[in-house]
Amino acid sequence: MGEGRAEVSPARRAAVALAVTAGLCLAVAVLAGEAAYPWLKAVHVIAVISWMAGMLYLPRLFIYHCEVKPGSETSETFKVMERRLLQIIINPAMVVTWALGLWLAWKGGHFSASWLHAKLTLVLALSGVHGFFSAAVRRFAEDRNTLTQRQWRLWNEAPTVLMVGIVILVVVKPF
Ligand code: HEM
Repeated sequence: MGEGRAEVSPARRAAVALAVTAGLCLAVAVLAGEAAYPWLKAVHVIAVISWMAGMLYLPRLFIYHCEVKPGSETSETFKVMERRLLQIIINPAMVVTWALGLWLAWKGGHFSASWLHAKLTLVLALSGVHGFFSAAVRRFAEDRNTLTQRQWRLWNEAPTVLMVGIVILVVVKPF
């Protein structure tokens, strides 16, 4: 069973899941009135958790992958794990986090708040790290990684440090 049936690519499945999530969020935003804000804030936090889970795990994979012989079976397994983690979890979660974060800022009238400006600065930095990790997935896929394990261990800390700052800014709102 299933022979001859074309397998749906991870990127395509992620795109479908993203479209369904966007449709549901739009329906909540239009139909739920005042209740839309807390519901979509909950979805924002769920997306944040998914994005961060991937951003914390992906550099861990790089730390092990860079020690493995290029072309070996283990190296090929790491490539599949990295590509799937990026396409199925990290990329869609970032899109949902950004879209709902901007909606919350607009709906809640937060755009003039200093804490949000500071938070956006750190989120932009986190998105830059995301772009750097995406490029690294491509480089590993082509066996062209140039960073050492020690350098990957340092990069591994960047998402954690940024996340701590972002969460303090949005929860404590110190200014
Ligand atoms: C991508 C751009 C983002 C924007 C524009 C944004 C904006 C917002 C806004 C306006 C709120 C509602 C604040 C309130 O109602 O008091 C919120 C909630 C929250 N955001 Fe974001 N956010 C973004 C990304 C992130 C990221 C990357 C994280 C964590 C790493 C994060 C963590 C949270 C948390 C934990 C809450 C709930 C805070 C609470 O209810 O006390 N956000 N965000």
